Amino acid sequence: MTLAGRVIVLTGGASGIGLSTAERIASLGGHLAILDVNPDAVASAVARFTDAGHKAIGLTADTTDEEAMAGAVAEVVRRLGGIDGLVVAAGIRQTGTPITELGLDVWTRILHVNLTGAFLACRAVLPVMIAAGAGSIVTVASISGKVPRLGQSAYASSKAGLIQFTKSLALEVAEHGIRANAVCPGTTNTPMFKLAVEREGERTLRDRIYGSVGSFRPGVPLRRIAEPEEQAEAIAFLLSPSASFITGQAVFVDGGESII
Ligand code: NAI
Repeated sequence: MTLAGRVIVLTGGASGIGLSTAERIASLGGHLAILDVNPDAVASAVARFTDAGHKAIGLTADTTDEEAMAGAVAEVVRRLGGIDGLVVAAGIRQTGTPITELGLDVWTRILHVNLTGAFLACRAVLPVMIAAGAGSIVTVASISGKVPRLGQSAYASSKAGLIQFTKSLALEVAEHGIRANAVCPGTTNTPMFKLAVEREGERTLRDRIYGSVGSFRPGVPLRRIAEPEEQAEAIAFLLSPSASFITGQAVFVDGGESII
């Protein structure tokens, strides 16, 4: 498996699964364009990669901002010469909210970042990939896109939409030699998840691993949560030429949780 010389844009690339994926891509020889809404995190991620001798640039942009995304893509092409791959990892969580208490502003924000932001990121890079006649896109959806969770209606809807968007994308861009797949993580040990445990308590972690009748959680057959590096490995594989005949798939990296 190699990504030698390939230019990969990562949205949400400054933290968690996106950052781990950037690390794996760099180790496979890829060049990084780390895009994130958090400027300090972008700066520290880029410094880490360039200090280690990798080629990396940083872009502070919000994926829901159409103009900012067009500008970011133009900057990557200007500075790195093209775009071979896109990882859509930018996303936000939902604090457990029953539908009866879910405000329209929260619903709209989650759909906007997790689904519309992914659409805008993909649409922004497509002209570059189409002109090159090649490319690979991996979106980071979630097990929640398949299995509903209590208090997660907006998040689950955004991720189910993202899976179907990714499949639609794969169908439309195949003729241009572009592949698109979704990785669907189960619970993964990232800052996003640590925040959930902090707010909801340690029980959250036990419930996720071992299941809970009260919250209708089946638990994880492999009896642990994922490390971000395990998501990164699947994403890097799907990005790489090793996955040359795989497109339109939703790959669950969830320790078996979605099969129950
Ligand atoms: P994280 O919070 O550590 O990283 C997400 C990054 O996205 C942050 O750096 C944040 O600044 C950035 N971001 C958020 N909104 C953005 C926007 N509008 N534009 C640009 N950047 C933006 O979270 P984590 O856990 O690494 O999540 C990455 C993806 O994986 C998300 O889409 C999440 O929904 C998904 N996921 C995470 C799971 C978990 O248990 N951690 C499980 C299933 C899916």
